Amino acid sequence: MTVCDRYAVIGNPVAHSKSPFIHARFAAQTDEAIEYGHRLAPVDGFVASVREFIEAGGRGLNVTVPFKLDAHAFAHRLSPRAAAAGAVNTLRFDADSVFGDNTDGFGLVRDIEVNLGVSLKGARILLLGAGGAARGVVLPMLDRAPHTLTIVNRTADKAEALVGQFAQAALEADCRLSGGNARAIEAGAYDVIVNATAGSLDASLPECDDRAFGSGTLAYDMMYGAHPTVFMEHASKLGARGVDGLGMLVEQAAESFYVWRGVRPDGAPVLAELRKLLAAPAAA
Ligand code: ATR
Repeated sequence: MTVCDRYAVIGNPVAHSKSPFIHARFAAQTDEAIEYGHRLAPVDGFVASVREFIEAGGRGLNVTVPFKLDAHAFAHRLSPRAAAAGAVNTLRFDADSVFGDNTDGFGLVRDIEVNLGVSLKGARILLLGAGGAARGVVLPMLDRAPHTLTIVNRTADKAEALVGQFAQAALEADCRLSGGNARAIEAGAYDVIVNATAGSLDASLPECDDRAFGSGTLAYDMMYGAHPTVFMEHASKLGARGVDGLGMLVEQAAESFYVWRGVRPDGAPVLAELRKLLAAPAAA
């Protein structure tokens, strides 16, 4: 009998998570003997739930809302990208320690560059938002050596704080990093605009100069759903290419799988399958 290593996604709520589907596909694709479920923890019961999972032989967890900060505090060792993000979405339980990583930003970058075919090297990037989601993608973006990274947020001082935090990394990447409120947006269309605000959750559009969108702009919303978000529709009206964050979801999962198993699954076929299911939810 094959003994499977156990993994799960932990969150609250978590029943809707597509991670079990994605990881089952990755396991089949790579012939890795893993079992992957979901784990609902009480909002004040993250640590107890994780300990129980480890005692039952759990090898790793994906961490989703609202526990990414708890997971960051729980890890004994952090990857540089998790330390920079200030949040952990991947825990790996090693023999003598708990390793915390954050694969969200890597997933975004890989989706943009590999699945969507847009290179970030030398690109002009506009990042909308300065919360946890935005912070998590700054270092992986800088690692690709873009020409410009402008961070814009409704609350300007949060964008300015991110600029301060990543000033040294930007210098090393030879990237012009700046930010503030919408007035910080520079003239001319950007190559890539990423919406990392929570605006799409309540169908609101973050403030952004229309002139930032051009026909060559990739307008990426980190959210996804069965229908285009308001941000994607706005971008399309302005002639830009609007895309959602489903590919980021798949690619962050692929990178977590790699962190756990040392094997890199191919995200593209799983993304294609998930896209079909999203378009026809009754068949899911
Ligand atoms: P997350 O972990 O999803 O990033 P967060 O840390 O609460 O969540 O950050 C939410 C981000 O979305 C912030 O940048 C927030 O802007 P403020 O810092 O000004 O609050 C942004 N946001 C949320 N709703 C928004 C809206 N309707 N328009 C513009 N920005 C919005």
